[in-house]
Amino acid sequence: MAENPGEQRDGQLQGQQPTRRSFVKSIAVVIGAIILGGLWGLRRWYHSQSTPAQVIAQMGDIPVNGTKIFQYPTDVAPCILVRTGETSYAAYSRICTHNSCPVFYRPDENGFECRCHNALFSITDGSVLQGPPPRPLPRILLEFRGNDILAVGVAKT
Ligand code: FES
Repeated sequence: MAENPGEQRDGQLQGQQPTRRSFVKSIAVVIGAIILGGLWGLRRWYHSQSTPAQVIAQMGDIPVNGTKIFQYPTDVAPCILVRTGETSYAAYSRICTHNSCPVFYRPDENGFECRCHNALFSITDGSVLQGPPPRPLPRILLEFRGNDILAVGVAKT
């Protein structure tokens, strides 16, 4: 018995549909993997970008519990350096994470206050102790070289 050519063609077409579907799925998986890989690489690149080291003060420039305002890592990013002890310092962004008001060091509260909405951040880690800010203050990483105090990065939170 001879096969009907139309049935055979239909049979091949039906046989090809799963193959095309599989091909499209494979392409979609590959494209998805490329996009995810690109996003992952972009994220790694972003987090690997080092901020420049910048001298922000000299040891002894400010008294214990004194502060110094500086800009880091750009010229429009105000930060605050606090001398917390004879040989200890801490630095944070000065921009409140709520509505960007400036924060002020309060030694009696052991933290930074934001007067806009009565918030308080910890000097220890920048965490929110009271008020509406949704995130801690970004901490500025410090290094000490000789008499220089340097800002060397912004801690990722
Ligand atoms: Fe700082 Fe609202 S802007 S608490």
